[in-house]
Order: sequence, then C-alpha cells, then structure tokens
Amino acid sequence: MKKTAWMLLMMIAALTLALAGCGTKDNASSGSTPSEGADGKKVYKVGTEATFAPFESVDDKGKIVGIDVDILKAIADEMNFEVEWNNIGWEPVFQTIKNGETHIGASGITITDERKESFDFTEPYYESQLLIVVKEDSKIKSLDELKDKKVSVQINATGHMAAKKLQGEASTNIMAFESQPIAIQEMLNGNVDAAIGDNAVVYEYIKAHPDQKIKVIQDDAFEKEYYGFMVQKGNKELLDKLNEGLKKIKENGKLKEITGTDFE
Ligand code: ARG
Repeated sequence: MKKTAWMLLMMIAALTLALAGCGTKDNASSGSTPSEGADGKKVYKVGTEATFAPFESVDDKGKIVGIDVDILKAIADEMNFEVEWNNIGWEPVFQTIKNGETHIGASGITITDERKESFDFTEPYYESQLLIVVKEDSKIKSLDELKDKKVSVQINATGHMAAKKLQGEASTNIMAFESQPIAIQEMLNGNVDAAIGDNAVVYEYIKAHPDQKIKVIQDDAFEKEYYGFMVQKGNKELLDKLNEGLKKIKENGKLKEITGTDFE
C-alpha cells in the first residue's frame, strides 16, 4: 500500500476512536445531552409522578402544575435554561434518570442516603415529614401501634421504607401502590388499617376530599425529610446549575413565595 493511503487509514482509525471515546463519556457521566430550544436555550427533560399535589398534579387542561413546577421554572429563568415536564410515574423517574432519558427528577423526592448512592441531589428546598392517615373512628394513635397492622404506602417512597423498617422487609402487611392518593383511598375503602404519606400531600388530599372522614396522626418517630431535585450521578454541570439557581431564589425570597414556608 502507498504511504498516503496508510496515513489516511490511520487518520480515520484515530478519528473513529476519538469519537467513540466522546460517546462513552457522554452517556456514562452526564446523561443524554439536552436539546436546544428555539432561542438556543438548553431544554432539560424533567420526570415526575403528578398525583402529588401540591407539588405536582395535572390540572383540568392536562397541564402539570404545582410547587415543583414553579420552583424549577424560577431556577430555569435565573439560569437561562428551559424544562420539559413528563408525567412518567414514580419508579420510571428513577430508572430514566439512571439511563439518561430524563435529566431532572422533580417529584417531591426526599434526599436519602440510600438514593445518594445512585443519584446526585441538589441542596434541599422543602422540609417534610411522614404522617399516618386513618379513618376518623380509628383507635390507632402512634407509629408503634402499626407494627402488626395492615398499612398502605406508595411503592418505594419513604413511607414504604418507614413501614418496612417497622414491620420488616418481608412483611405481608404492607400494601404498596403506584401513588399516594391510591394508598389513602385503599385505607378509606377499608382494605388496610392505615396509610403513610408525606404531610403536605396528605393535607392537600383532605382539602380536596372534604366529605371523607379522615384523621391524621403525627409521630416524631418519623424523621424530618428534605426534598431535593435529582440528577444522574456525576452530572455535575446540571447539578451546579440547579444549585446555583436554587441559591438565588432562596436569597431573593422567590422560594419562600412559592412554598409559603420559611426554609433556608
Ligand atoms: N417524598 C417521598 C419520597 O421521596 C414521596 C415522594 C412521592 N412523589 C410523587 N410525586 N409521587 O419517597
């Protein structure tokens, strides 16, 4: 083969290797690249499970609305990017962030040590605590009394983890459902003795169902929880952007305006 032909071949080989290298790096460390909007802004895909009012729910026009939507909009405005919301379900939020299909998890997600092993979280933006939800005439008064009772929770949510901690991983008295409202509904239907869910969402449910005879039990055996936005592990570029925007809206009072609670 001629010398020039060899050189050409070598160059093609080098280029192919370089390109392959880029591809791997992109997928493994920072998720799939966000698309660009009409105005050249980056558009990040947001994954959520929108039966979680007041944080995310679908309004009568089919739009996803709520505190998480407003917070992320405020952050995006500060940091000059856009977001595209997708109501994909609770467990798919985790799966699709892992595989890079979704960039941001915004779903009232509690920052936990276990989740931090597989995902990265922003600084917290909201403080929450679990509540026990029972029928008005129930005799249950504390978490401890749920040890041998039938309990409903949202699957793989912190309420599910709390129930397993109390009753053991293999307990058959725990019923896990797709969403928190379904878990509460199951309790009202009499299929379980109590439901466990996030306080703000339980109170919102009660507001939306004034005819239901519901009682809530607060128990300090439940630890305080903090919500954060979740990204693929190692996506530092996006995490830094979210944290910087969050810091700005904490400082300028916008976060407090949206959530209605003082939270630093
Ligand atoms: N805060 C709880 C958790 O992180 C429940 C969140 C459920 N969110 C939702 N949008 N369904 O486990």
